Amino acid sequence: MTDEQAKLVCVFGCRGSGKSTVAKALVKDRPKVIVFDVMGEYTGGKFVRCNTLSEVKDAMRARWSEGFQISYVPPNGTYHVEALHELALLVWQVQATYEDGRDSRMLTLVIEEAHMGFPNTQLPRDQQGMVQLVTLGRHRGIEGIAITQRPALLNTVYRSCAPQSYIFALDHEDDQASVVKTVGREHAEAVRTMPDFNFLLRERGSVRMGKTAKTGRITIKK
Ligand SMILES: Nc1ncnc2c1ncn2[C@@H]1O[C@H](COP(=O)(O)OP(=O)(O)OP(=O)(O)O)[C@@H](O)[C@H]1O
Ligand SMILES: [Mg+2]
Repeated sequence: MTDEQAKLVCVFGCRGSGKSTVAKALVKDRPKVIVFDVMGEYTGGKFVRCNTLSEVKDAMRARWSEGFQISYVPPNGTYHVEALHELALLVWQVQATYEDGRDSRMLTLVIEEAHMGFPNTQLPRDQQGMVQLVTLGRHRGIEGIAITQRPALLNTVYRSCAPQSYIFALDHEDDQASVVKTVGREHAEAVRTMPDFNFLLRERGSVRMGKTAKTGRITIKK
């Protein structure tokens, strides 16, 4: 897999550990970005706020040629699985232009509170949009950044397809245990004692340490 291919990324960590800071840094220079922004925290810069899927469609259409950063904040009380499924279908549809060669730009979908939108439970048969996106999205240049405090509750289809994870401090023992399985026992102590704003970066078998600054700057130890 080269860096030119659309990647799936996981960002795990407890409340306030630095997850959204790293996600914002990762999407800063991406050409087309949509955030499933449950708490409405992606503002400033080029970000445009939308509250319905049809607003998302209009915002993309209006900015398609120059690129966009869209924060989709579903209304309070929304069933996240269904809302994210519908967003996934829309992203899949618009990125057909990538597959047929009309547009070489990838689209990055950021999913906040991903354990709610794409939980590790049986999904309704008619709400498999995220499964399609995760399994086949690479052909349509669709990248994903799934953010959650509870990695053990994130859908395993996503977790098993994501070659890269940022692992911040985790406070549940079962979450620590589930990430230790992927980073190896030699990192168990680091997982258990991770300070805020520091992370392990797991990338195709290698594991490195890193940290974020408040400015969003990411430093990774060689
Ligand atoms: N290196 C740092 N030093 C000090 N403050 C930081 C640093 N990195 C981020 N912050 C600040 O800490 C707060 C929490 O960071 P952030 O929002 O990224 O955490 P989070 O893991 O997304 O939290 P939540 O679970 O609530 O979504 C933010 O106000 C952010 O600006
Ligand atoms: Mg956050």
